[in-house]
Amino acid sequence: GIDISKLRSDTGLITLDIGYKNTGSTISNITYLDGDKGELFYRGYPIEQLAEKSNFTEVMYLLLNGELPNKEQFNHFEREIKKQNWVSEEMRRLLEVFPRSAHPMGVLSSLTSALTAFNPKAVNIESHDDVEKASELLIARFAILCAWTYRNMNGYPLIKGNNKLNYVENFYNMMFRMPNEELEVDPVLINALDKILILHADHEQNCSASTVRMVGSARAGLFASISAGVSALWGPLHGGANQAVIEMLEQIVADGGNVQKYVDMAKSKDSSFRLMGFGHRVYRNFDPRGKIIKKVMDEVLDDLDVHDEILETALKLEEIALKDEYFIERKLYPNVDFYSGIIYRAMGIPTEMFTVLFALGRLPGWIAQWTEHRLHEDPIGRPRQVYQGAVKRDFVEMENR
Ligand code: ACO
Repeated sequence: GIDISKLRSDTGLITLDIGYKNTGSTISNITYLDGDKGELFYRGYPIEQLAEKSNFTEVMYLLLNGELPNKEQFNHFEREIKKQNWVSEEMRRLLEVFPRSAHPMGVLSSLTSALTAFNPKAVNIESHDDVEKASELLIARFAILCAWTYRNMNGYPLIKGNNKLNYVENFYNMMFRMPNEELEVDPVLINALDKILILHADHEQNCSASTVRMVGSARAGLFASISAGVSALWGPLHGGANQAVIEMLEQIVADGGNVQKYVDMAKSKDSSFRLMGFGHRVYRNFDPRGKIIKKVMDEVLDDLDVHDEILETALKLEEIALKDEYFIERKLYPNVDFYSGIIYRAMGIPTEMFTVLFALGRLPGWIAQWTEHRLHEDPIGRPRQVYQGAVKRDFVEMENR
């Protein structure tokens, strides 16, 4: 706790809100969410309608431009992204020097930052047109970098983009197709991936979006700011939770599969253990994305007919926690990461790649947040603090310490 009597008088009037639980950092027109009602809208459109009727490319356009595109605008946007559907030889070489054991989020963050070096024109953003060009370039290259990070990690040859495919199919193709092979694309899986990307596309002032805005507020470039967002997303309390979910499930299975024991541990005040994939800073009700993704999970598990102890443990955990008084009282529901982790595992995607897929989905949100900050000409982000360290004292020579 804070010892009020020790607060220094020269701090002036400072609002102390550690973790920004009730502090708005900006005015925004992008995403609305009501954590009590469990509502989420992008540019006014409910997430349920977007997940059902739209597609990821259209949602990217919506987030970046504020309105749904007409046919011509959609085709133009898609065409411009496809024009950028390649990466330079230097970027490829850079990727290949990372050890296979490197965490793909670290690789992705580095490569995103490196885009700055290889695309100097996209760095000097002055006009709306410059933002559009840099965004299209980043959207196209990011998908390649995400897919190639996966391939490099597995030692697979890198596959170029295919402009006959849409954005999500192209990404899937670059991830999974082997050279000289046709990839049979399962529409259930493409539909699931498309929906997951839509659900992750923005989430107002979350940790990584705030990071992107904060870095951008110093007038740092788009690619550098997004690279910082990737690093923020990596953390297990944020986007890294989907990886942490599977790691927790693996631990439960290795420990004999006693789910109740882990639920009890999460409830105990003597333990710092938390059920990964449960709870959310803002949703004190069911995460609306959780409802949609749960349906997607059922479709994928049916389609693939997988039998996996980890997935069965996940379903058992969900069932037990949803009926447990501790979780009900605190309104701790499975969040979107709980289900996305299960779906990715069923699709055969390695655990370390889960957060990369989250990043791919969140990219348009980050770009929209960065752009909005610029458009509104918000000032540099620079929070204050309440100092509680040592009071003024004189330096002590080393021999006297
Ligand atoms: N397991 C067990 N207990 C929990 C959990 C959990 N996953 N989450 C919160 N609680 C308990 C806390 O111990 C606290 O209990 P108390 O009131 O008895 O002290 C109460 O619920 C409130 O928790 P807070 O820590 O105040 O919630 P906060 O908003 O700070 O944290 C967070 C939210 C970080 C998401 C937290 O719920 C958590 O750590 N969850 C697990 C990690 C996770 O899934 N993260 C993904 C977030 S979603 C995303 O990034 C897309």
